[in-house]
Amino acid sequence: MAFPQIRMRRLRAGESMRRLVRETVLTVDDLVHPLFVKSGTGLKQPISSMQGCYHFSPDLAAQEAAGVAQSGIPAVLLFGLPEKKDKTGSRAWAENGPVQQAVREIKNSTPNLLVITDVCLCAYTESSHCGLTKDGTIDNDATCELLAKVALSHAQAGADIVAPSDMMDGRVGYIRQTLEKNGFHQTGIMSYSAKYASAFYGPFRDAADSAPAPVFAGTVLGDRKSYQMDPACCRQAMREIELDIAEGADIVMVKPALCFLDIIAHARQRFDVPIAAYNVSGEYMMLNAAAQAGYLDRNAAMMEMLYSIKRAGADIIITYFAKEAAALLK
Ligand code: PBG
Repeated sequence: MAFPQIRMRRLRAGESMRRLVRETVLTVDDLVHPLFVKSGTGLKQPISSMQGCYHFSPDLAAQEAAGVAQSGIPAVLLFGLPEKKDKTGSRAWAENGPVQQAVREIKNSTPNLLVITDVCLCAYTESSHCGLTKDGTIDNDATCELLAKVALSHAQAGADIVAPSDMMDGRVGYIRQTLEKNGFHQTGIMSYSAKYASAFYGPFRDAADSAPAPVFAGTVLGDRKSYQMDPACCRQAMREIELDIAEGADIVMVKPALCFLDIIAHARQRFDVPIAAYNVSGEYMMLNAAAQAGYLDRNAAMMEMLYSIKRAGADIIITYFAKEAAALLK
């Protein structure tokens, strides 16, 4: 059968018909809202590289988180900026670090909001690399031990889910074992499993003060390509995800989202765990810049982006648009 028996436009005749046959459902339940936390009190400072985003002190982060929960968004993802960096990134596991404080304050005031914490060293090390520098390289196994300490400190503060974003091998297993040994059987792991060495993290690195030093203490460390994935690879992403699931990841992630929709779709076909996708800072600011220049309709483009990520197969979308999207989805 063909035209005129079949006219595809019948299915697009009006908004009710389009709603009836819509294949992808995007809801506020799918969204995670990222928050940047800094030491101090009463702080809410605009982040210059990321329009509409702020550095919050733990007290105001809790206030912001309450608003996020009010808008129906089920989870926040916390990133921390320490007062000072050091060689090993030791403030990442400090009991009174900004993330640990913020977790406690949020869980106190808004207990039902899920608190996810980014587990990485890049905002805490002097080199701003995601791992410990040793003999001119990033030492994988030594880094895993430190990451497990970071994750444990977040769990002790009350985090529901820890999210390692460093891309060291074996870190999910290290973290899972450490959590189990310390009685945190219910603390989940959302692993940044397929995290690519992407140009789209630029605005975030300004926000988190985490742009890696190409040369540190006289050694050439270069960029993050020795641990983050090559954007030209897909099969490698499937192996990364498979390994993370075997090591105990409850949720896996593909990051960034938009240049990697095929990776999300492949992962959706192969794995039965929840899949998260990170709509990263560069994707957010690319749209903002184009909208500001008058090239596109911001809300329409934002929803189209979010639908594409959901349609590709993501269950969870981490996005700086979360609050705005939530308002439109009401
Ligand atoms: C830290 C981390 C990064 C992002 C999330 N966690 C930056 C990086 O790997 O360089 C990027 C998030 C974004 O761009 O929105 N490892």
